[in-house]
Formats: sequence, C-alpha cells, structure tokens
Amino acid sequence: MGLQKKSETNLFWLIVLIILTVSVGGIVQIVPLYYQKSTTEAVAGLTPYPALQLAGRDIYQKEGCMSCHSQMIRPFRAETERYGHYSVAGEFVYDHPFLWSSKRTGPDLARVGGRYSDEWHRVHMINPRDVVPESIMPSYPWLDNNEIDGPTIQKHMTALQTIGVPYSDEEIAAAADAVSGKTEMDALIAYLQGLGIHVKIRR
Ligand code: HEC
Repeated sequence: MGLQKKSETNLFWLIVLIILTVSVGGIVQIVPLYYQKSTTEAVAGLTPYPALQLAGRDIYQKEGCMSCHSQMIRPFRAETERYGHYSVAGEFVYDHPFLWSSKRTGPDLARVGGRYSDEWHRVHMINPRDVVPESIMPSYPWLDNNEIDGPTIQKHMTALQTIGVPYSDEEIAAAADAVSGKTEMDALIAYLQGLGIHVKIRR
C-alpha cells in the first residue's frame, strides 16, 4: 500500500500527519517571534512603569477597566485616524500581564496618555456624565478615598524584577516614598497619562 493511500485510509496516521503538518506551520510562525528584535526589544525611551503608574495599573485591573476598553490599536486607517499610531510589540515588553483586551464598549486607551488633563480624568472618573453627557461608563468615586500601599508596590516591583523587568534596587527602595500619600485616583490617572506616549508619531 502506498504511503498516501495508507495515510488516507488509516485514521490513526491521518491524525498524526495532520498534527505534524499543523505543528510545523505553527512553529514556523511562532518561534521566530521569540527571537525577533521588533517583538522582544523595548521601543526607544520605554522604561518600566514608575511606582505610581504601576500602582495605577493594578487599579485598572482591579476595577476591570479592560472589560470595556482595549489597549491595542490595529494597523487599519480607521483606527490610526482615530487613536494614533498603531500599537507595536516593543511597547508592551514590560507589561505583565498584557492588558490588550478586545472589548470596546468604550474607546481604545492605548494612546490616551496626554490627550486630556489630569483634572479632566479626575472629573470623568468621579462621574463620566459631567464631561461626556451621553457616557455609559460607570462612576468610580471611591478611588479618591483609598490610599496606595507602598510596601505592596515594592513587592510587586520585586516580583517583576525577578521575571526580568529592569527595575533597579534603588527604584524599588524609593517606591514607597514615591506613592506615599497618593490615592488610587492619583495612581490611575498617572497610569492613564503614561499610556502610549513612547511611540511619538501620533496622528
Ligand atoms: C461599562 C463599560 C466601561 C467600563 C467598565 C469603563 N469604561 Fe471608560 N469609557 C466607557 C465609555 C462608553 C466611554 C466613552 C464615553 C466617555 O468618555 O465617558 C469611556 C471613556 C473612557 C475614557 C476617555 C477615553 C477617550 O479617549 O475619550 C477613559 C480615559 C476611560 N474611559 C477610562 C476608564 C477606566 C480607567 C476605567 C476603569 C476604572 C473605565 N474606563 C471603565 C466605558 C467603560
């Protein structure tokens, strides 16, 4: 029996060969990504999140902002006209975990940094309807009442350092002071204002 006939009439070999073919296709696409500079190296000027922004990123996750907001501008004209330069892999090398999301009940936030003033964000977070009357975004007034805990952020930075984010020991030591007296609101705004500002070509 010829090899082709054997593989087409024997279910076992058919499955084995399909898995083999699909794996080769997958490996050829996936493995180079681990070694390509464009996917593994930070874009110029990108630094790990400063302590306050890192704390804000935790709030972003805790409050589930990614269930309505993506942080991933796709390379299509309709997106780049609206949001700015499409997202590139090198912007996310210090992100653990990624917060790309895919749900867009609200606008993409990948380049929201610098688009509004801190004060705008503060008013918007407390009650979005005060600045965007038709908004369906929930209010987050309690963010102003909760303070950021320094030692927690230091532990978070140490954990990130362990998995390769280049925080220096001095930065970690200084982190508690950097967030001292800051509220969750301050941290979240600092985080939003830092989003996407490293790729300069905007619109
Ligand atoms: C239920 C869905 C929903 C959730 C959850 C949500 N948002 Fe929104 N968000 C929206 C919608 C809709 C808009 C557009 C209207 C507006 O500006 O309020 C928006 C707008 C925004 C904008 C303005 C973006 C721009 O380019 O104009 C920011 C910033 C923002 N949201 C941040 C947040 C943050 C931070 C959180 C988590 C604390 C969050 N959102 C949670 C739906 C949501």
